[in-house]
Amino acid sequence: MVAGNWKMNKTPTEAKLFAGSIADTIPAELLSRVDVVVCPSTSCIGSVTEVLYGTDISVGGQNIFYEDSGAYTGETSGEMIKDLGADYTIVGHSERRKLFGETDEVVNKKLHYALRKDLRPILCIGETLEEREECETNIVLERQLKGALEGISTEQLRKIVIAYEPVWAIGTGVVAAPEQANEAMAFVRHLIETLYGKNLAVDCRILYGGSIKPDNFDDLVSLENIDGGLVGGASLDEGFIELVRIAGRHA
Ligand code: 13P
Repeated sequence: MVAGNWKMNKTPTEAKLFAGSIADTIPAELLSRVDVVVCPSTSCIGSVTEVLYGTDISVGGQNIFYEDSGAYTGETSGEMIKDLGADYTIVGHSERRKLFGETDEVVNKKLHYALRKDLRPILCIGETLEEREECETNIVLERQLKGALEGISTEQLRKIVIAYEPVWAIGTGVVAAPEQANEAMAFVRHLIETLYGKNLAVDCRILYGGSIKPDNFDDLVSLENIDGGLVGGASLDEGFIELVRIAGRHA
């Protein structure tokens, strides 16, 4: 899977044009082997789903609130983005955790809610630089994963994509070394095994995210524990198509 997190970039007009050019460029044969998801800002979801309608490229939100409607000024519900045609939503991105105070408890509520609305969550977890330097990476991953998955059944986990995004690698140009990424993701898989059993640990889709570029993606996606990428900056231009091609070589 290659998922593009466009963050707060592109107007609806720009997003529509770019999504159209992705759809025109990626061959259908490649889309039959690699799951491609684009996650535009909420304001662009409608225009992007419209232009991607009938293609094999899925659309996701970057964040949702966990109620259908109500007095939650500025929020958008999962039901609303589902109605716009989204099939996925990112949940618990580190920027939401850091800048908007999202706790593991909130992430857990959003996961449950997304699943009730038939949205496939892309659950983000990852340690900060300080946590890594203090050798707390596994402690943080375990806390975030267990917190997020509280009350989530085996059946529900099958619908969740996990994205390991070390915070120190996001938007910094410092990509995790393949061994670092593989080690952390092996630990995530091990946690899934202890919580849900071996079969699900093998089947569970785990993406890496953080400064992915066409020139480093091949080394990452060829690793045993990495099933694809959640891409920020490099998903905003034609480089994204190259990333899908690279993933296709390993699919
Ligand atoms: P960059 O690829 O820009 O480092 O962002 C990664 C990310 O946060 C994807 O969710």
